[in-house]
Amino acid sequence: TPSNTRDLILSSCASVPDFPKPGVTFRDLTPVFADPTAFAAVTSALIEPFRGGFDRVAGIEARGFILAAAAAYASGTGMTAVRKPGKLPREVLSESYVLEYGTAAVEIHRDEFPPGTRVLLLDDVLATGGTLAAAVRLLERAGAEVVGAGVVLELAGLGGRAAVPASVHALATI
Ligand code: PRP
Repeated sequence: TPSNTRDLILSSCASVPDFPKPGVTFRDLTPVFADPTAFAAVTSALIEPFRGGFDRVAGIEARGFILAAAAAYASGTGMTAVRKPGKLPREVLSESYVLEYGTAAVEIHRDEFPPGTRVLLLDDVLATGGTLAAAVRLLERAGAEVVGAGVVLELAGLGGRAAVPASVHALATI
């Protein structure tokens, strides 16, 4: 990642204490999406390590959609939305994962990928890695080859990278 892209991310990312609950510091990347220079730089940097090596970009609900749509357009590929439960109308594959309190799940349509589809998976933030890991398992169960996972911001202290069964590329780390 170019150092000016990393600096742009770190300077425009807002840290909000005690959101969505006490004790959690929320990393808000909406200013990165709103800035045309930062948004373009982030989109290019997410594609770059995997350029030419994927046929589809998958984004995780909700902020991953923004990145995946931009990256799919910029790379001339298509986009898959990895959704929260109950949103997709046809037969789904579902992959659940454990949260601090309870469980969550991600879903895609069962027939989402033609055989051999190479997928670049994107999300905004990597924290514990639970979401990204579940999404990788889900895509692989659907027959895709996950060539890599890109995130804008990695919260390194949580060790999430080790939980993800794919090559993880983070544009910035805090
Ligand atoms: C956030 C973020 C990642 C996930 C990272 O999503 O966008 O998807 O948490 O956390 P993890 O590495 O600990 O799994 P959130 O649950 O806030 O969903 P939203 O984008 O729909 O608000």
